[in-house]
Amino acid sequence: MNSSTSAPLVDIRDLTVTFTRGARPVNAVNGVDLRIERGEVVALIGESGSGKSVTLRSLMRLHPPQATRIGGHMMVDGTDVMALDRQALADYRGARVAMIFQEPLTALDPVYTLGDQIVEAIRRHESISSADARKRALELFERVRIPSPERRLAAYPHEMSGGMRQRAMIALALACRPKLLLADEPTTALDATVQIQVLLLLRELQRELGLAVIFVTHDLGAAVEVADRIAVMYGGRIVEEGSTRDVIRAPAHPYTLALLRSRAGRPAVPLPIAAHTRWISVAPRNLNARSWPPATPPAASAPAI
Ligand SMILES: Nc1ncnc2c1ncn2[C@@H]1O[C@H](COP(=O)(O)OP(=O)(O)O)[C@@H](O)[C@H]1O
Ligand SMILES: [Mg+2]
Repeated sequence: MNSSTSAPLVDIRDLTVTFTRGARPVNAVNGVDLRIERGEVVALIGESGSGKSVTLRSLMRLHPPQATRIGGHMMVDGTDVMALDRQALADYRGARVAMIFQEPLTALDPVYTLGDQIVEAIRRHESISSADARKRALELFERVRIPSPERRLAAYPHEMSGGMRQRAMIALALACRPKLLLADEPTTALDATVQIQVLLLLRELQRELGLAVIFVTHDLGAAVEVADRIAVMYGGRIVEEGSTRDVIRAPAHPYTLALLRSRAGRPAVPLPIAAHTRWISVAPRNLNARSWPPATPPAASAPAI
């Protein structure tokens, strides 16, 4: 077997991220190990400030080098992420790894139409005519089910609703056919019904395109719905990891347990295919709470759905 196909798509070892700009250094990530197979969906959950976004941004090399110290190794699709030079990094971003955010306006440029932004993204990575790139942009808008896609391609980001903007950002992220999609709370800011539609869309696209996804969420319901595996972050580390089923049935870390408890009495995520999401009456097993740092109940930061 060829080693590039047997190796995981993502292999993060002992990642540490320290921000050095302030009066005191901030250790945001303290030794993260995470492997993700091709086509696999991993939900990264954990309380606010536990290092989820910093981990994802590291995979995109988005932290400014003058203000950040990064240790450990990150291999993505056989590439050493920290070793990429400027040109290789520009090729890598978008074409191999793309990211979507809670707030699409951070990813979209307000002064260009959505169509122009997608065309520009495609042409930055591929030698393809403007007409062909525009054709692909239209296909992408159809694929993310934006109604009247042709007209919407000519719109500016502020002319769209939150849900449509989120779809446009997904289209932009997928424009260069990445193998890995980093989704940082992509549905948190949306209304409940729109949230569900966007989640379903993401899952459908993931399956159709065979994408690997790291999906950061506060919402265990969403995690159960989309993820093959769940990794729980706490204090800059992954403190629990396992198949979605195992983590939900037998959470080992107090934070995971608190998350589960905070959902008790609330319905499981109201998706039609969520018949297996029965986590309300989980009985924890192997729980050795004393060896863990105290967990803050997530209720305050977890968005209600
Ligand atoms: N650019 C930065 N400079 C200094 N500290 C930061 C920076 N970005 C994030 N942090 C800190 O790193 C920690 C992890 O942040 P983050 O990954 O954003 O958390 P979350 O799990 O909520 O996504 C937090 O304590 C945050 O305040
Ligand atoms: Mg975050």
